[in-house]
Amino acid sequence: MYGAIILAAGQGNRFKRKKQFEIIENKEMWKYVYDKAVQVVSPQFIVTVGVDFEGGDTRSQSVRVGLAHLEECERVIILEAARPLVTVEQISALLESDEPSVTYALPLVNTVIGRDGTFYDRSNFYDLLTPQAFDYHLLKNAYETDKYTNTTDETYVMFCEYGIKPHFILEGENLFKVTYERDMDIINHMLKRQEKDENDSYNGR
Ligand code: CTP
Ligand code: MG
Repeated sequence: MYGAIILAAGQGNRFKRKKQFEIIENKEMWKYVYDKAVQVVSPQFIVTVGVDFEGGDTRSQSVRVGLAHLEECERVIILEAARPLVTVEQISALLESDEPSVTYALPLVNTVIGRDGTFYDRSNFYDLLTPQAFDYHLLKNAYETDKYTNTTDETYVMFCEYGIKPHFILEGENLFKVTYERDMDIINHMLKRQEKDENDSYNGR
């Protein structure tokens, strides 16, 4: 059985309002993610934190709220409302994987420099994206230790608790996160392109 947690809480400080409820073409942002997830995961195994239940003060605490309300399952995917362009295929691929910790990631495109002026070889780094998927029991038990209240993501929790490194799927140009209001232009543009591609492939069938 698969479970899904959609993170749709948080204040949107950088966006200046709760971006997850912005309306894009007659639909709130979080609902784009839900409508994709529900094609892979049964509705009773989907928890939308911030919509079904109040979220926590940090992203980690919202994940915890999600895990507390999710019915027991074998694998869980953690999705973010702020990445509304996720595809059904990407959700399926994570859930069908049997890796205990799996994430999308992309090579860096810019030069990386430390705040102290040290240059780093960007070929040694990836940008970690979400969604990510996990063995449900491992992730739940890790969170139940109460050690993880403010981590960046769950692959980090899995590594800290069990030493399990994430498996990378190297794709996700569509998975950038809406952070600032200016990102909405890109989202609108990409969403239209995604809908056109879906229609084209449907008509071509
Ligand atoms: N999120 C959440 N609970 C929180 C914080 C964030 O569910 N306490 C979710 C957001 O809804 C978003 C994702 O986690 O889908 C990524 O968070 P982020 O982009 O940082 O959103 P905010 O925390 O709301 O924005 P900001 O950091 O600018 O305040
Ligand atoms: Mg935040």
